[in-house]
Amino acid sequence: MELHGKRIALGVTGGIAAYKAAELVRQLIREGASVQVAMTDAATRFVTPVTFQALSGRPVFTDQWDARIGNNMAHIDLSREADALLVAPASADFLARIAHGLADDLLSTLVLARDCPLLVAPAMNRQMWENPATQRNIATLRGDGIAILGPGCGDQACGESGLGRMLEPDELVAALIAHFQPKLLAGCRLLLTAGPTFEAIDPVRGITNLSSGRMGYAIARAAREAGAEVTLVSGPVALPCPPGVTRIAVTSAQQMREAVLQRAGENDVFVGVAAVADYRPASPATRKIKKDGGAPSPIELVANPDILAEVAALPVPPLCVGFAAESHDLHDYAEKKRRAKKIPLIVGNLISDGFGGDDNTLILFDDEGQHPLPTAPKIELARRLVARIATLLEKR
Ligand code: PMT
Repeated sequence: MELHGKRIALGVTGGIAAYKAAELVRQLIREGASVQVAMTDAATRFVTPVTFQALSGRPVFTDQWDARIGNNMAHIDLSREADALLVAPASADFLARIAHGLADDLLSTLVLARDCPLLVAPAMNRQMWENPATQRNIATLRGDGIAILGPGCGDQACGESGLGRMLEPDELVAALIAHFQPKLLAGCRLLLTAGPTFEAIDPVRGITNLSSGRMGYAIARAAREAGAEVTLVSGPVALPCPPGVTRIAVTSAQQMREAVLQRAGENDVFVGVAAVADYRPASPATRKIKKDGGAPSPIELVANPDILAEVAALPVPPLCVGFAAESHDLHDYAEKKRRAKKIPLIVGNLISDGFGGDDNTLILFDDEGQHPLPTAPKIELARRLVARIATLLEKR
């Protein structure tokens, strides 16, 4: 329920993507938002107001002169009752009209009269999107502080393929959730590692661990939502990259080290969430190791570099945050790791809580003591960790 209590005014304009706005309403409501739909006349040609009324549980407004609003001020009332106005899909024509301040129907008047943030999700044919007139309008809207969500790239209803698809409902919901997060890390650059590493034994086998990447990806998303420029160096996981985050995919600890050290100097914060293999096979076989009937040959291991300790030892290190996953004596081991790696903040979790799964339980250890974060979804814990990082950055 990440939009609990939020009041969203949803404007729907005329385009085939209007059918996806119906699913968008469902998802917004599932996240705890209340949704008030307003449609342009053209939008009602694609989906009827009855559909949106049934899904939102509220009457839908299409007409500036709607007699249901006593004072005939629907454009004012609807905006004053909203925490954000999202127009999805936003057609090329509608974007052009609001870029020029036109107010010739209910939705454009609502946009002009609003006193809440406006987000628009363009949806149109790729040539219409690329047209210099549309691009001029988009630049104008951006300059006016309006958030432009997308468009996405792919197959279009007209049979062509390219930029111009409306973002999917789940992407729009994620963008709205991000919109409401406090921008605690605005202007900050944050680098982090996530997931496991894979240390090759031969071309098909290796040493790895059960890290799913979920904790690290949640922190990447939370930091991005908080306004940071985020670079995520990720071991092999099966997760999509959070929107707006730059991902660098690596496999081994040595590749992870190289990717991190290349960038650490340009970042304000480094968070080591990855479960990096401590050892790797000294000489991985170049060809598949075959069973030859005798006793298996032992695998000689060598130590991997400690990426976090190396970053913390840079002449001007970023604010370094480590993680410690332990099966027992979490407090002792986490504090020992914090001191050994000379970092200001370490985040402790039990292996039984942290690996895999959507929830976790954390304890933050820093110079001011211990800060337990009770069991919660990883994204919620990530937002609280981001808040602590922002506080430590302020004190630096
Ligand atoms: O990915 P999930 O399934 O969501 O699980 C999340 C997690 C449990 C993996 C995560 O929350 C976590 O605890 N990660 C750290 C795992 C760990 O115990 O690491 P460590 O004790 O080996 O290392 C301590 C710190 O040094 C970590 O920040 C680690 O990234 C870093 N390190 C370790 C070894 C190494 N060679 N280089 C490093 O940078």
